[in-house]
Amino acid sequence: MKSAPFYITTPIYYVNDKPHIGHAYTTILADVLSRYHRLAGAPTYFLTGTDEHGQKVQRAADKAGISPQQHADATVVHFQNLWKRLEITNDDFIRTTEKRHTKIVQACLQDLYDRGEIYKSEYDGWYDVTSETFVTEKDIPEGKTPEEMPNIVRIKEANYFFKMSAYQQWLIDYIKDHPSFIQPEHRRNETLGFLRKPLQDLCISRPKSRLAWGIELPFDKDYVCYVWFDALVNYISAVGYKTDDAMYEKWWPHCTHLVGKDILTTHTVYWPTMLKALGTVQPKRIFAHGWWLSGDTKMSKSLGNVVNPMDMIDRYGVDAFRYFLMAEMILGQDANFSEGAFIRRYNADLANDLGNLLSRVTNMIRRFCDGKVPALPDGELDRESSEVRDAALAAAHKCFNFVEDMRIDLALTEIINAVKRVNKYFEVMQPWSLAKKDDKTDLHTCLYVAAEALRILSSLLQPVMPEKMNALRGALGLREPCKAEDLQKFGIFPSGSEVSEPGPLFPRIEKKDAPAASEKAAPAKSVPAKPAPATAVEGVIEYGDFSKVQLRVATVLSAEKVEGADKLLRLQVQIGDTPRQIVAGIAQHYSPEEVVGKTIVVVANLKPAKIRGVESNGMLLAASVGDKLRLVTVDGELPPGGVVK
Ligand code: MSP
Repeated sequence: MKSAPFYITTPIYYVNDKPHIGHAYTTILADVLSRYHRLAGAPTYFLTGTDEHGQKVQRAADKAGISPQQHADATVVHFQNLWKRLEITNDDFIRTTEKRHTKIVQACLQDLYDRGEIYKSEYDGWYDVTSETFVTEKDIPEGKTPEEMPNIVRIKEANYFFKMSAYQQWLIDYIKDHPSFIQPEHRRNETLGFLRKPLQDLCISRPKSRLAWGIELPFDKDYVCYVWFDALVNYISAVGYKTDDAMYEKWWPHCTHLVGKDILTTHTVYWPTMLKALGTVQPKRIFAHGWWLSGDTKMSKSLGNVVNPMDMIDRYGVDAFRYFLMAEMILGQDANFSEGAFIRRYNADLANDLGNLLSRVTNMIRRFCDGKVPALPDGELDRESSEVRDAALAAAHKCFNFVEDMRIDLALTEIINAVKRVNKYFEVMQPWSLAKKDDKTDLHTCLYVAAEALRILSSLLQPVMPEKMNALRGALGLREPCKAEDLQKFGIFPSGSEVSEPGPLFPRIEKKDAPAASEKAAPAKSVPAKPAPATAVEGVIEYGDFSKVQLRVATVLSAEKVEGADKLLRLQVQIGDTPRQIVAGIAQHYSPEEVVGKTIVVVANLKPAKIRGVESNGMLLAASVGDKLRLVTVDGELPPGGVVK
């Protein structure tokens, strides 16, 4: 990724209601892009804010029986609090009711008016009261007349117009000459399609007699400015337009606007022509993303199918929510939101792959290297180790290229595939067996290479999951923030760093309706009044029978899912000196990450068997009630191999 300045904006959100998933999505996306650019060393500026004028806000305030300003002041807090909660690192937050913005809007209006770009004229035509736009008969759905549409009214009033039509050919040429100005490609074509019809002039005023909540026109106090003209100017009023030339020149030409596909025309037609008339340069690109859908329909407040971001983060955590939104949407296309899809992806990528890798690395370094990352032994890396090194370095390289191309989903796939590669490395190298050799070279190589790969991969995930990746790096003993140049180097992990017990970073989510964190214990069954006499118990055995069963304390060294078997985990456990493999039907109750490091009880003398083709050499003990299952563990420190009697 290049280190040219990066200025990113989100749409400014209407303060007529609280934020929902659409708002959260664009803001998280802008935050993730900002963090990747900062990581790559690019000077970065990230702007978000709120759109506080216009009919929507006026109506919401009327409904609440307060002034529009009071309504905006009360609602803006929900956005600001949510951004804090979502770990959003915006450099500025602009509100269109702030003086620093209103004065620039007025300066732009005056400038355009003085130069004849704005003129007054009588409008006699149709008006859509819902979208606050002037419409022509072509905009009315086929088979209907304007009179039949409840939201369309005939109005006749004098208004001010911006000569947008004069810039039609210029805009077509500009879009054609700058292929990356509107992205993705299909949205660029949509705008060019729109421009095939004659472009109208844009009505930029509303008479105060009809709507008073807006910025007053500097040349006519009976009118306020149309909310879209006002709102779009935020992108330049926030970075010093007409007030701070150095700031403006530093950021504005490098601007990327992130917008939803529903506000394409305002951003790719109104805005570029306004800028052209103002005589200033265009932003670098306008990127339109798709919608989050529920089934086939857009999630929206009015449809009542919207996800409240607060609920999701309360339930599953901020970072997991951020990760899901980034991994699941291909930028430019619509994506489907369901809690089921969320849980599937969380369990697969985060609980299984990433969480498991961290447990393995820290656990084995603690067990076999006194908790300190070993030094990388001298000499060439073996084939397996060099493949892991190459996978981590390639992930770093490709990740930044994908981010540059706005394919965050692919960047994340690349990183998680590299995580899987390191997990596979453990299975091939079997560090628990290497630990038994007198020569520790192979063991140290394996653990160093895995820790180093995890250093790189966790740094690459940091822009998406800042808090969790900080915790992960802390568990690895990494104290310094990650630097861009460190992502191209392999072998710089400071040996001797002390690793610590990470705790489950991403505890597995058990079921859609009963998330692990809040799962309540099954209600206790009623207890019989009198204990049943022992003789009434079925299947009584002699002590001699029981004593044949060798129960031993074991430590779980590693765990992974058995491919193609939803319920099975393959565990490497240590009993005394001997590691061995056990296949256990606990995958729906524990993630691999959660079992690694546990001290459990196993039947050590069970005849080996193959379960789904995988050899199992023993059996672990677990207790279950209904569909709840918990492992039998030992209360306190006891070395592996201890006899259970
Ligand atoms: N105030 C204007 C923007 C002015 S920018 C100069 C506005 N505000 S909004 O609050 O209605 O919407 C802001 C953004 O949320 C839009 O980009 C819209 O696409 C996005 N989303 C609203 N619902 C959405 C989904 N269900 N999915 C993804 N984003 C969607 O428009």
